[in-house]
Amino acid sequence: MIQCSCHNGPMPLEPRLREILGEVRDAGGRVVALTGAGISAESGIPTFRGRDGFWVVGSRNYMPQEMATHAMFLMEPEEVWRWYLHRFGVVRHAAPNAGHEALVRLERALGERFTLVTQNIDGLHRRAGASDERTHCIHGDAAWVRCAHDCGVGLLPHPAHLAARDGRAPLSPAEREELTCPRCRGWLRPHVLWFDECYDEENYRFDSTLRAAREADLLLVVGTSGATNLPVRVGQLCFTGGAALVDVNPEENPFSELAERSRRGFFARGSATARLPEIVEALVGERALS
Ligand code: APR
Repeated sequence: MIQCSCHNGPMPLEPRLREILGEVRDAGGRVVALTGAGISAESGIPTFRGRDGFWVVGSRNYMPQEMATHAMFLMEPEEVWRWYLHRFGVVRHAAPNAGHEALVRLERALGERFTLVTQNIDGLHRRAGASDERTHCIHGDAAWVRCAHDCGVGLLPHPAHLAARDGRAPLSPAEREELTCPRCRGWLRPHVLWFDECYDEENYRFDSTLRAAREADLLLVVGTSGATNLPVRVGQLCFTGGAALVDVNPEENPFSELAERSRRGFFARGSATARLPEIVEALVGERALS
Protein backbone atom coordinates (compact mmCIF):
# COMPACT_ATOMS: atom_id res chain seq x y z
CA MET A 1 0.00 0.00 0.00
CA ILE A 2 1.38 3.40 -0.99
CA GLN A 3 1.92 6.27 1.40
CA CYS A 4 2.80 9.81 0.32
CA SER A 5 3.72 13.09 1.89
CA CYS A 6 3.64 16.54 0.34
CA HIS A 7 6.04 18.72 2.38
CA ASN A 8 8.62 20.89 0.63
CA GLY A 9 11.39 21.27 3.24
CA PRO A 10 13.44 18.53 4.96
CA MET A 11 11.11 16.17 6.79
CA PRO A 12 11.23 13.11 9.02
CA LEU A 13 10.71 9.76 7.32
CA GLU A 14 7.32 8.10 7.39
CA PRO A 15 7.31 4.94 9.58
CA ARG A 16 6.77 2.55 6.65
CA LEU A 17 9.62 4.11 4.66
CA ARG A 18 11.92 3.95 7.69
CA GLU A 19 11.01 0.27 8.10
CA ILE A 20 11.79 -0.57 4.45
CA LEU A 21 15.14 1.25 4.56
CA GLY A 22 16.02 -0.31 7.92
CA GLU A 23 15.47 -3.82 6.52
CA VAL A 24 17.81 -3.12 3.60
CA ARG A 25 20.42 -1.61 5.93
CA ASP A 26 20.27 -4.48 8.44
CA ALA A 27 20.52 -7.10 5.69
CA GLY A 28 23.58 -5.38 4.17
CA GLY A 29 21.66 -5.13 0.90
CA ARG A 30 22.82 -3.87 -2.48
CA VAL A 31 21.43 -0.50 -3.54
CA VAL A 32 20.93 0.84 -7.05
CA ALA A 33 20.15 4.56 -7.28
CA LEU A 34 18.54 5.57 -10.58
CA THR A 35 18.54 9.32 -11.23
CA GLY A 36 17.04 11.59 -13.86
CA ALA A 37 16.87 15.28 -14.63
CA GLY A 38 14.80 15.95 -11.48
CA ILE A 39 17.82 15.52 -9.19
CA SER A 40 19.55 18.42 -10.96
CA ALA A 41 16.45 20.64 -11.10
CA GLU A 42 17.33 22.26 -7.78
CA SER A 43 20.79 23.02 -9.20
CA GLY A 44 19.08 25.19 -11.81
CA ILE A 45 19.23 22.80 -14.77
CA PRO A 46 15.84 22.60 -16.51
CA THR A 47 14.37 19.09 -16.65
CA PHE A 48 14.21 17.50 -20.07
CA ARG A 49 10.48 17.72 -20.40
CA GLY A 50 10.31 21.14 -18.80
CA ARG A 51 10.71 24.54 -20.49
CA ASP A 52 13.98 23.78 -22.27
CA GLY A 53 12.49 25.05 -25.48
CA PHE A 54 13.06 24.59 -29.15
CA TRP A 55 15.91 25.29 -31.53
CA VAL A 56 15.62 27.04 -34.88
CA VAL A 57 17.28 25.67 -38.02
CA GLY A 58 16.46 27.85 -41.00
CA SER A 59 12.76 28.57 -40.61
CA ARG A 60 11.95 25.38 -38.64
CA ASN A 61 11.71 24.89 -34.90
CA TYR A 62 13.11 21.65 -33.53
CA MET A 63 12.36 20.01 -30.18
CA PRO A 64 15.09 18.18 -28.22
CA GLN A 65 13.77 14.81 -29.45
CA GLU A 66 14.49 15.96 -33.02
CA MET A 67 17.83 17.71 -32.39
CA ALA A 68 19.29 14.91 -30.28
CA THR A 69 19.44 12.36 -33.08
CA HIS A 70 22.13 10.82 -35.24
CA ALA A 71 19.96 11.59 -38.27
CA MET A 72 20.01 15.31 -37.44
CA PHE A 73 23.76 15.21 -36.80
CA LEU A 74 24.31 13.73 -40.27
CA MET A 75 22.22 16.52 -41.83
CA GLU A 76 23.23 19.49 -39.66
CA PRO A 77 26.36 18.71 -37.60
CA GLU A 78 27.12 22.36 -36.82
CA GLU A 79 23.57 23.04 -35.67
CA VAL A 80 23.55 20.00 -33.42
CA TRP A 81 26.91 21.01 -31.95
CA ARG A 82 25.70 24.58 -31.31
CA TRP A 83 22.65 23.20 -29.51
CA TYR A 84 24.81 20.97 -27.32
CA LEU A 85 27.27 23.78 -26.60
CA HIS A 86 24.31 25.90 -25.50
CA ARG A 87 23.07 23.12 -23.18
CA PHE A 88 26.57 22.43 -21.85
CA GLY A 89 26.90 26.15 -21.08
CA VAL A 90 23.85 25.93 -18.76
CA VAL A 91 25.35 22.88 -17.04
CA ARG A 92 28.72 24.57 -16.53
CA HIS A 93 27.19 27.26 -14.30
CA ALA A 94 25.36 24.74 -12.10
CA ALA A 95 26.66 23.22 -8.85
CA PRO A 96 25.75 19.90 -7.18
CA ASN A 97 23.01 20.07 -4.54
CA ALA A 98 22.16 18.22 -1.32
CA GLY A 99 20.60 15.38 -3.35
CA HIS A 100 23.82 14.65 -5.24
CA GLU A 101 25.80 14.96 -2.01
CA ALA A 102 23.54 12.52 -0.16
CA LEU A 103 24.14 9.87 -2.84
CA VAL A 104 27.91 10.34 -2.47
CA ARG A 105 27.53 9.63 1.26
CA LEU A 106 25.61 6.49 0.34
CA GLU A 107 28.32 5.34 -2.10
CA ARG A 108 31.07 5.92 0.47
CA ALA A 109 29.18 3.97 3.13
CA LEU A 110 28.18 1.02 0.92
CA GLY A 111 31.22 0.74 -1.36
CA GLU A 112 30.74 -2.04 -3.87
CA ARG A 113 27.18 -2.64 -2.65
CA PHE A 114 26.22 0.63 -4.35
CA THR A 115 25.64 1.44 -8.03
CA LEU A 116 24.52 4.79 -9.39
CA VAL A 117 22.69 4.68 -12.72
CA THR A 118 22.16 8.19 -14.04
CA GLN A 119 20.49 9.45 -17.17
CA ASN A 120 22.04 12.87 -16.66
CA ILE A 121 24.93 14.04 -18.79
CA ASP A 122 25.53 17.10 -16.59
CA GLY A 123 28.40 15.63 -14.53
CA LEU A 124 26.95 16.91 -11.22
CA HIS A 125 27.17 13.48 -9.57
CA ARG A 126 30.89 13.37 -10.37
CA ARG A 127 31.43 16.97 -9.25
CA ALA A 128 29.74 16.07 -5.94
CA GLY A 129 32.28 13.25 -5.50
CA ALA A 130 30.66 10.14 -7.07
CA SER A 131 33.26 7.70 -8.43
CA ASP A 132 33.47 6.95 -12.16
CA GLU A 133 33.74 3.26 -11.28
CA ARG A 134 30.38 3.03 -9.52
CA THR A 135 28.54 5.59 -11.71
CA HIS A 136 26.92 4.35 -14.91
CA CYS A 137 26.20 7.31 -17.19
CA ILE A 138 23.69 5.46 -19.35
CA HIS A 139 22.97 8.45 -21.61
CA GLY A 140 26.60 9.59 -21.83
CA ASP A 141 28.56 12.42 -20.28
CA ALA A 142 29.04 16.01 -21.46
CA ALA A 143 32.65 15.92 -20.25
CA TRP A 144 33.67 13.78 -23.24
CA VAL A 145 33.57 13.73 -27.04
CA ARG A 146 34.31 10.88 -29.44
CA CYS A 147 34.71 10.31 -33.19
CA ALA A 148 31.39 10.45 -35.02
CA HIS A 149 32.74 7.79 -37.41
CA ASP A 150 33.95 5.43 -34.66
CA CYS A 151 37.50 5.51 -36.08
CA GLY A 152 38.86 4.13 -32.81
CA VAL A 153 40.24 7.32 -31.27
CA GLY A 154 38.30 6.63 -28.04
CA LEU A 155 36.97 9.20 -25.60
CA LEU A 156 38.54 12.65 -25.65
CA PRO A 157 37.97 15.44 -23.11
CA HIS A 158 35.43 18.01 -24.22
CA PRO A 159 37.53 20.87 -25.68
CA ALA A 160 37.98 23.25 -22.75
CA HIS A 161 37.38 26.63 -24.34
CA LEU A 162 34.35 25.36 -26.28
CA ALA A 163 32.72 24.60 -22.94
CA ALA A 164 32.90 28.32 -22.14
CA ARG A 165 31.46 29.75 -25.36
CA ASP A 166 27.94 30.98 -26.11
CA GLY A 167 26.36 27.98 -27.80
CA ARG A 168 24.10 30.06 -30.02
CA ALA A 169 26.91 31.82 -31.93
CA PRO A 170 28.11 30.27 -35.24
CA LEU A 171 31.21 28.06 -35.02
CA SER A 172 34.46 29.80 -36.00
CA PRO A 173 37.05 27.93 -38.15
CA ALA A 174 39.20 27.45 -35.01
CA GLU A 175 36.23 25.96 -33.15
CA ARG A 176 35.39 23.78 -36.11
CA GLU A 177 38.97 22.47 -35.91
CA GLU A 178 38.49 21.72 -32.18
CA LEU A 179 35.55 19.53 -33.16
CA THR A 180 37.55 17.59 -35.76
CA CYS A 181 38.77 14.10 -34.92
CA PRO A 182 42.58 14.19 -34.52
CA ARG A 183 42.84 10.68 -35.97
CA CYS A 184 40.53 10.53 -39.03
CA ARG A 185 39.73 14.27 -39.49
CA GLY A 186 35.96 13.62 -39.49
CA TRP A 187 33.55 15.28 -37.03
CA LEU A 188 33.80 14.65 -33.33
CA ARG A 189 30.45 14.18 -31.62
CA PRO A 190 29.20 14.66 -28.06
CA HIS A 191 29.50 11.49 -25.96
CA VAL A 192 25.74 11.18 -25.53
CA LEU A 193 23.14 8.60 -26.52
CA TRP A 194 20.87 9.99 -29.21
CA PHE A 195 17.19 9.16 -29.51
CA ASP A 196 17.68 7.07 -32.66
CA GLU A 197 20.57 5.03 -31.20
CA CYS A 198 20.78 1.94 -28.98
CA TYR A 199 22.30 1.40 -25.57
CA ASP A 200 25.56 -0.59 -25.48
CA GLU A 201 28.08 -1.68 -22.84
CA GLU A 202 31.13 0.08 -24.26
CA ASN A 203 29.74 3.60 -24.18
CA TYR A 204 26.74 3.40 -21.86
CA ARG A 205 27.31 0.37 -19.56
CA PHE A 206 24.13 -1.34 -20.65
CA ASP A 207 24.94 -4.90 -19.50
CA SER A 208 26.50 -3.74 -16.23
CA THR A 209 23.37 -1.75 -15.48
CA LEU A 210 21.08 -4.72 -16.09
CA ARG A 211 23.34 -6.88 -13.89
CA ALA A 212 23.21 -4.35 -11.05
CA ALA A 213 19.40 -4.23 -11.35
CA ARG A 214 19.14 -8.03 -11.12
CA GLU A 215 21.28 -8.04 -7.97
CA ALA A 216 19.64 -5.07 -6.25
CA ASP A 217 17.93 -5.30 -2.87
CA LEU A 218 16.74 -1.70 -3.10
CA LEU A 219 16.06 0.46 -6.12
CA LEU A 220 16.08 4.13 -5.15
CA VAL A 221 14.63 6.17 -8.03
CA VAL A 222 15.08 9.96 -8.00
CA GLY A 223 13.64 12.55 -10.36
CA THR A 224 12.84 10.70 -13.53
CA SER A 225 9.67 10.48 -15.58
CA GLY A 226 10.52 6.97 -16.82
CA ALA A 227 10.35 7.94 -20.48
CA THR A 228 13.34 5.93 -21.70
CA ASN A 229 13.89 2.25 -22.24
CA LEU A 230 16.71 1.15 -19.93
CA PRO A 231 15.40 2.86 -16.77
CA VAL A 232 12.02 1.19 -17.33
CA ARG A 233 13.78 -2.19 -17.65
CA VAL A 234 15.74 -1.53 -14.48
CA GLY A 235 12.47 -0.83 -12.66
CA GLN A 236 10.85 -3.99 -14.00
CA LEU A 237 13.86 -6.19 -13.15
CA CYS A 238 13.94 -4.87 -9.59
CA PHE A 239 10.20 -5.30 -9.25
CA THR A 240 10.13 -8.89 -10.49
CA GLY A 241 13.28 -9.70 -8.49
CA GLY A 242 11.56 -8.63 -5.27
CA ALA A 243 13.78 -5.63 -4.51
CA ALA A 244 12.43 -2.85 -2.32
CA LEU A 245 11.48 0.17 -4.42
CA VAL A 246 11.52 3.79 -3.25
CA ASP A 247 10.64 6.63 -5.61
CA VAL A 248 11.55 10.26 -4.82
CA ASN A 249 9.64 12.72 -6.97
CA PRO A 250 7.27 15.65 -6.41
CA GLU A 251 4.93 14.19 -9.06
CA GLU A 252 3.38 10.80 -9.66
CA ASN A 253 5.12 8.90 -12.46
CA PRO A 254 5.56 5.31 -13.70
CA PHE A 255 8.05 4.50 -10.89
CA SER A 256 5.69 5.74 -8.17
CA GLU A 257 3.06 3.46 -9.69
CA LEU A 258 5.53 0.56 -9.63
CA ALA A 259 6.30 1.35 -5.99
CA GLU A 260 2.58 1.30 -5.28
CA ARG A 261 2.31 -2.21 -6.72
CA SER A 262 5.42 -3.44 -4.89
CA ARG A 263 5.17 -5.29 -1.59
CA ARG A 264 8.10 -3.23 -0.29
CA GLY A 265 7.48 -0.03 -2.24
CA PHE A 266 7.15 3.57 -1.12
CA PHE A 267 6.48 6.80 -2.99
CA ALA A 268 8.50 9.44 -1.12
CA ARG A 269 6.74 12.41 -2.61
CA GLY A 270 8.90 15.53 -2.54
CA SER A 271 12.01 17.08 -4.02
CA ALA A 272 15.39 15.37 -4.10
CA THR A 273 17.00 17.82 -1.66
CA ALA A 274 14.07 17.52 0.77
CA ARG A 275 13.95 13.72 0.78
CA LEU A 276 17.36 12.22 -0.04
CA PRO A 277 19.43 13.31 3.01
CA GLU A 278 17.00 11.60 5.41
CA ILE A 279 16.65 8.51 3.24
CA VAL A 280 20.43 8.10 3.01
CA GLU A 281 20.81 8.64 6.74
CA ALA A 282 18.34 5.79 7.38
CA LEU A 283 20.22 3.53 4.95
CA VAL A 284 23.71 4.09 6.31
CA GLY A 285 22.85 4.65 9.98
CA GLU A 286 25.92 4.80 12.19
CA ARG A 287 28.18 3.95 9.27
CA ALA A 288 27.70 7.55 8.07
CA LEU A 289 29.64 8.72 11.12
CA SER A 290 32.66 6.50 10.57
N1 APR B 1 13.34 16.53 -7.22
C1 APR B 1 13.00 15.31 -7.71
N2 APR B 1 12.33 15.15 -8.88
C2 APR B 1 11.99 16.25 -9.57
C3 APR B 1 12.30 17.54 -9.12
C4 APR B 1 13.01 17.66 -7.88
N3 APR B 1 13.34 18.86 -7.37
N4 APR B 1 11.83 18.43 -10.04
C5 APR B 1 11.26 17.72 -11.01
N5 APR B 1 11.34 16.39 -10.74
C6 APR B 1 10.87 15.26 -11.54
C7 APR B 1 9.68 15.54 -12.43
O1 APR B 1 8.46 15.41 -11.70
C8 APR B 1 9.85 14.47 -13.50
O2 APR B 1 9.22 13.26 -13.11
O3 APR B 1 11.91 14.90 -12.43
C9 APR B 1 11.36 14.24 -13.56
C10 APR B 1 12.03 14.82 -14.80
O4 APR B 1 11.57 14.12 -15.93
P1 APR B 1 12.19 14.38 -17.38
O5 APR B 1 12.30 15.83 -17.67
O6 APR B 1 11.42 13.53 -18.34
O7 APR B 1 13.70 13.85 -17.25
P2 APR B 1 14.26 12.38 -17.31
O8 APR B 1 13.30 11.40 -16.73
O9 APR B 1 15.62 12.42 -16.73
O10 APR B 1 14.37 12.12 -18.84
C11 APR B 1 14.94 10.90 -19.26
O11 APR B 1 14.87 11.38 -21.56
O12 APR B 1 14.92 13.18 -22.88
C12 APR B 1 15.62 12.05 -22.54
O13 APR B 1 17.90 11.52 -22.56
C13 APR B 1 16.98 12.38 -21.96
O14 APR B 1 18.03 11.54 -19.97
C14 APR B 1 16.83 12.06 -20.50
C15 APR B 1 15.72 11.04 -20.50
